[in-house]
Amino acid sequence: MESMGKLKRSHSCNDLEIQDLNKEVTLMGWVLRRRDHGGVIFIDLRDRWGLTQVVFNPEINAEVHAKAHDLRSEWVLAVRGIVMERPEGMRNEKLKTGAIEIMVSELRILNKSMTPPFPLDEDVEVSENLRLKYRYLDLRRPGMADNLIMRHKACQAMRTYLDQENFLEIETPILTRSTPEGARDYLVPSRINAGNFYALPQSPQLFKQILMVAGMDRYYQIVKCFRDEDLRADRQPEFTQVDMELSFVDEEDIYVIAEGLMKALFKATLDIDLETPFSRMAYDEAMNRFGCDKPDIRFGLELVSLTEIVRNCSFKVFRTVVEKGGLVKSINAKGCATFSRKNLDDLTEFVAPFGAKGLAWVKVKAEGEWQSPIAKFFTEEERADMSAALGAEEGDLLFFVADQPAIVHQSLAELRLELARRLNMVEPDTFQFLWITEFPLVEYDHERKRHTAVHHPFTAPYEEDLHLLDSEPAKVRSRAYDLVLNGNEIGGGSLRIHQKDLQNKVFSALGISDEEAADKFDFLLRALEHGAPPHAGIAFGLDRLMMILAGRESIRDVIAFPKTQKAACLLTEAPAPVNRKQLTELYLRPDWEEK
Ligand code: AMO
Ligand code: AMP
Repeated sequence: MESMGKLKRSHSCNDLEIQDLNKEVTLMGWVLRRRDHGGVIFIDLRDRWGLTQVVFNPEINAEVHAKAHDLRSEWVLAVRGIVMERPEGMRNEKLKTGAIEIMVSELRILNKSMTPPFPLDEDVEVSENLRLKYRYLDLRRPGMADNLIMRHKACQAMRTYLDQENFLEIETPILTRSTPEGARDYLVPSRINAGNFYALPQSPQLFKQILMVAGMDRYYQIVKCFRDEDLRADRQPEFTQVDMELSFVDEEDIYVIAEGLMKALFKATLDIDLETPFSRMAYDEAMNRFGCDKPDIRFGLELVSLTEIVRNCSFKVFRTVVEKGGLVKSINAKGCATFSRKNLDDLTEFVAPFGAKGLAWVKVKAEGEWQSPIAKFFTEEERADMSAALGAEEGDLLFFVADQPAIVHQSLAELRLELARRLNMVEPDTFQFLWITEFPLVEYDHERKRHTAVHHPFTAPYEEDLHLLDSEPAKVRSRAYDLVLNGNEIGGGSLRIHQKDLQNKVFSALGISDEEAADKFDFLLRALEHGAPPHAGIAFGLDRLMMILAGRESIRDVIAFPKTQKAACLLTEAPAPVNRKQLTELYLRPDWEEK
């Protein structure tokens, strides 16, 4: 192997063009491909910026040509040579460097490489486990590198924007106490304090509120958060938030700042000028019309309630559900009466995991006549009322689910997304933002048999709903908001409670006793007693945002070193066992060994 010696890189592999002809240049990078063409050897040399073709011609330099014979994929090279024009017909219009090539006069092999376990050309499907194990190779692939470059640009743009808006970037601790975002904590045992544990932050929530009490006025941080929850394509155990908090503001100020941030982000990454303000929708309306609190509003297929129409119908399934306080809701799939029996069976199976006990359907024929196994259970008037409510016309396909509200909403919300996928109803590269507002303050947790905070326990209720806090807590609306983009929850926040009395009231509505509150949040409660200003904030999921911007299906594709669905890092093989001495020092006994 050779050293770089006195060679200094003069250009990247994406720099040289026709105006550089005849310059002597030095490039360094990796061998992407090697082609032997009747004596002449061509190498595509790659670095983070791009590709340049380098040429070894035996008639011009027999010695370097002989050396080039040995080169293999992913070897690391330094080449010195002259920029030449590619012969007519050999140009590559798609490459920035496609009009030139480098005639090499000096070649240094800086390192060899094992044969890569998968080809690094972007268009090859490779199993994700293999990609994660060899992440350094995966990240050499152009698409993956682009994602990280875009992420960098995104962070730069957001920092610049927030700096201009007078935010201070302040770091908060990673070794801390449990933070109340409702997921399981990652715990770190303390060596110095026997039997005590730090928790990794699920978010900097409490610290950022305390920074407001400290008078910092506008805080932000691009920060790692840790949540030990079940993982999905849009969830990681450690993920990054763009977190912020502001003093002396209300919702409108937050919306303006957040919309400005999204504008800056989309301009810097996709060169898109977003239209603001974004639309808004109250939680109740979102649930009624779309069955979920993060609706994708790029297409219709809205849910229509038929509960009142079918209240006294003779279809027993519907009637009993309504009698028990449930709902009957429907979606009109316009023009889909051509769906086959198999399509309908597939969709019935599709909604089953969401609790739907069936998926009734109606094909609308000429003159509004219904073709359906359940048509016979309805009077002509009931059929006409339902058709009118759904705007049904000849050729339409109507789907119905009857059940408790949560099941009806979830099954139809998922069915709606599935229909949109099957019918290609979403135009690619469209971005629809939507604020969801007026969330309920609390929800009933059947497992714990008590109300829990929908957002977190520091979220302010609407003043006009306060009188319901004890009697009907589920009816109290909170001043929380989520930002939804194309059906993904990309951010969430709220106005906070800044007065101790109200905080205590909310704790008691949540069944959090004074002792529990004092034990967990004493430092916050004390801070609230020392001149806490009105404040509010929001946090964006950076990984989710980047996934959408990069047009990827998984947040793992926009994270340099992500974890698998089993929360493992395949590169480092974390988590890993530790030795007995380490455990003893931490006062931990390895009980599971004996079991
Ligand atoms: P919340 O819990 O809504 O709010 O989180 C804010 C945003 O973070 C993203 N997110 C995740 N991304 C990837 N993997 C995860 N496991 C994950 N969990 C959440 C989502 C979400 O919208 N402290 C509050 C914010 C506030 O009130 O200011 C909070 O953490 O995009
Ligand atoms: P059944 O009378 O059970 O054969 O059901 C007739 C039709 O109603 C079938 O297409 C079922 O899929 C559908 N169905 C049954 N239960 C429900 C329900 N809870 N909601 C919607 N459709 C249902």
